[in-house]
Amino acid sequence: MIPLVDVLTRTEGYLRSRGIPSPRYEAEQLLAHALEIQRLQIYLQHDRPMSDEELALLRPLVARRGKREPLAWILGTVGFHALELQVTPGVLVPRPDTETLVDEVLARIPEGETDPVYIADVGCGSGAIGLAVATARENARVFSIDIADAPLACTRANVAALGLEKRVAVLKGNLLDPIPPNRVIDWVVSNPPYIPSKDLTECEPEVSQWEPKGALDGGRDGLAVYQQLLPTAVERARKGVLVEVGIRQAPHIKRLMLELGLVDVTTANDLGGVVRVVAGHKPS
Ligand SMILES: C[S@@+](CC[C@H](N)C(=O)[O-])C[C@H]1O[C@@H](n2cnc3c(N)ncnc32)[C@H](O)[C@@H]1O
Repeated sequence: MIPLVDVLTRTEGYLRSRGIPSPRYEAEQLLAHALEIQRLQIYLQHDRPMSDEELALLRPLVARRGKREPLAWILGTVGFHALELQVTPGVLVPRPDTETLVDEVLARIPEGETDPVYIADVGCGSGAIGLAVATARENARVFSIDIADAPLACTRANVAALGLEKRVAVLKGNLLDPIPPNRVIDWVVSNPPYIPSKDLTECEPEVSQWEPKGALDGGRDGLAVYQQLLPTAVERARKGVLVEVGIRQAPHIKRLMLELGLVDVTTANDLGGVVRVVAGHKPS
């Protein structure tokens, strides 16, 4: 029987040979997941032999990752903002960059207020943005909308796991269409598909080969979904609109927001210094 630390080293070598960017870290994650232990335990138990049954649990996980399937789909969960979210195949894995959008939304909803604030999260995916906001602000009421079934099922599972059923409605449809016209929306928030179609094939394999095109493909220049969403979002939001943007897209989105009549249009950078969010406000 092979000691745990040797399995870890072999797994790391295999993942490196498959081009995985952080092979040691991911080997630890997969091993800990297979054995249902914390990563630290791998080192505390480094010389304990792994049984054949345990190896049989690990092998298919490593094989999946070797084919560049997203790690979060294999583990079934991902950390996002203060949450541990479920993510299933077919659902975009929420990125740390998107936490910037959550922080910008939270900055506009004062803590401790009790009047309900209505937020539409358009293209909710795993539910990440809306659920992070709802968790941080008790007065938030969220419409989580997606056009595809896998994200809707994933969001519903996360809503249930977080006990947010009373404050989050999960709706299927195009952009803001599922929200009846008589319902108030304060903020429209979205991380829409924004990668220019021709750039998709150049993305890392997890993106180009695995993650759903419908979550990523923003048309010829990457701006197609913003152009559809923003006019209605500006019309319907009482307070404003915040969107995540891709590299070099912010000036276009800023201009579009200003043309549509939003004011105080500002941007926010992600932790890597890339402009990631454009936010505009309704004139008072
Ligand atoms: C980039 S992903 C964002 C997912 C999630 N909000 C996040 O940040 O992790 C875009 C999502 O928008 C959904 N989507 C694409 N077009 C849509 C449309 N016209 N109406 C509603 N949702 C749409 C996709 O199914 C996908 O889940």
